[in-house]
Amino acid sequence: MMDTILAKMNQALGFELRAINMYAHYAANVKGIHRMQLAPLFEQEVAESIAHANLVRAAIVKLGGICVTERDPLPIVHTNSYLEMLECSLSTEMGASQVYREVLDLVEKLGDRELYDSFESIYFSELRSVEEMRMLID
Ligand SMILES: [Fe+2]
Ligand SMILES: [Fe+2]
Repeated sequence: MMDTILAKMNQALGFELRAINMYAHYAANVKGIHRMQLAPLFEQEVAESIAHANLVRAAIVKLGGICVTERDPLPIVHTNSYLEMLECSLSTEMGASQVYREVLDLVEKLGDRELYDSFESIYFSELRSVEEMRMLID
């Protein structure tokens, strides 16, 4: 039980570490008129992913686990197309939502309210990002 939860939390942490790299890469690369809006958006996603990673690390340590230090290996697509950047952002946020949904279902069984609330707030912020990316792509 605890091994499954820790493995799932570490998967979420790996996703966040990947998201930090991906969004930093896109913030640096986005060009043209869209840079004005998208560079700050991508930078905000970097900051949010760092904050999420910190919360997940704290939870793993609280439960006596060891945090991963490597990002999830799913390749980060290099592109100069802002639309492709947004498509990759959408699939990244959908993946994050899915993994936090799974973490939440497992954490619920632990009966730790503080831990549940902290993962629920991350889950909701991933859902908001999914909606935001959808709106931007439309
Ligand atoms: Fe996140
Ligand atoms: Fe996210």
